Amino acid sequence: MLYEEIVDQMMKLIEEGTLKPGNRLPSIRALTQEFACSKNTVMKAYGELEKRHIIYSVPQSGYYVVEGYRRRETLEGVHGTIDFLSAGPDRHAMPYRDFQHCINQAIERYKEEMFTYSDIQGLGSLRVQLAKHLQELQVFTVPDKIYVVSGSQQALHLLLSLPFPNGKRHICLEQPTHAGFIESIRQHGSETYGIEVGNEGIDLTRLEQLFKRNDIKLFYTVSRFHNPTGYSHTNETKRKIVELAQRYDVYIIEDDYMGDLDSNAKADPMFAYDPSGRVIYVKSFSKVMLPGLRLGLAVLPDALREDYLRAKFAADVHTPMLTQGALEIYLQSGMFSAHIERMRKLYSKKAALLQQAFQKWLPAVTTYSGSLSGFYSTIELPVPMKAKQLQEYLKHQHVLVDHAERMYLPDFVKDNVIRLSISQVDEDLIERGVQMIAKGITELLSRRTEVKFVSGDKKR
Ligand SMILES: Cc1ncc(COP(=O)(O)O)c(C=O)c1O
Repeated sequence: MLYEEIVDQMMKLIEEGTLKPGNRLPSIRALTQEFACSKNTVMKAYGELEKRHIIYSVPQSGYYVVEGYRRRETLEGVHGTIDFLSAGPDRHAMPYRDFQHCINQAIERYKEEMFTYSDIQGLGSLRVQLAKHLQELQVFTVPDKIYVVSGSQQALHLLLSLPFPNGKRHICLEQPTHAGFIESIRQHGSETYGIEVGNEGIDLTRLEQLFKRNDIKLFYTVSRFHNPTGYSHTNETKRKIVELAQRYDVYIIEDDYMGDLDSNAKADPMFAYDPSGRVIYVKSFSKVMLPGLRLGLAVLPDALREDYLRAKFAADVHTPMLTQGALEIYLQSGMFSAHIERMRKLYSKKAALLQQAFQKWLPAVTTYSGSLSGFYSTIELPVPMKAKQLQEYLKHQHVLVDHAERMYLPDFVKDNVIRLSISQVDEDLIERGVQMIAKGITELLSRRTEVKFVSGDKKR
């Protein structure tokens, strides 16, 4: 479409630095002539760039590049960095303008509520919207069972502190897993039992033994687009895990932090296999929206209600009204659904590029994980190569990666795994980044020629 051509052309001028922050864009009239199109087409293109918070308009003057706009790192840039480290959503795809509009409306709509403390559980009208939205993720519940939290991390942290109806004490969790959950466990001093999850999935016999023998209060699982591996459990596995939990009276915390990015409409959450409360569903808005909003939710069984509300009250009374109100308007208007559609396309394209690049470039002594969407994947390096060593080496080449040590319990720790996030890496740079990682691995291996490496088969 013509307006997209104009968007691309302006983006090109901004990205290559011809148009710098603060510079004025060509006038509408100039572009109607250049593209032989109507004024409306140009306005639509500029409107799109405004929505992405790349340009802004000044009445009677024109359109300008936002001050402080950070260009994507370019291949040509001397210090161009390829950032596989940062884990927030793709900053160039965030709906700043739309959300700003929702915040303004929320101030109007909820100004009275802002003079007082509000419902600990979360804004009632937001919970109605959330219940509707959750249906799209196959989570069928009612507003009364939904609890708004200040980021899903808060739900995880608070849940660990609660007594559960099964009267049990210990925590079972996947290995590796989300570092924030491990940190919460450390803060609470809970006794833990890890179970490995990798390309081959999870060992259900082992999980059954753990449930049977160890007074397990809850099992924490990131059911799709796992952090850090990107792995998603199959429906069959999810159903079996729920059955085991029912048999051995274990609760499940299902952390569906990236569920919105799943374009497979047939993928069920574990919650769908037992909506009675055995599965506690936790959702984040940080990976598809703005992490700084600190918004998330949990679907809790009534048996946890009183204890949970006391814990939330003690933590921060309630999640801020302004962001809750804005999210409600964003959901209600349909803007969220449209945004998610774009995000799915964006990340599935990036994920496919990453997997192709892995296959093409990574040496056979490595194994890798990943998925068809989501942000994360891991590369396991041949022992005794250290992830931190590779991280340091790549930093000098302006490629940033994370090492995964903090994502393991002490008994499971691996120092040879790096985590990659593709959210901040431009599509055009993914292959080049992987190529440089592969080069780094080969280079470090060759420096250690005296060491005999255990060379495993390349797993696909
Ligand atoms: C698996 C997982 N769960 C939960 C969270 C916390 O997200 P939030 O920003 O909603 O607290 C993260 C953050 O990275 C995560 O990776």
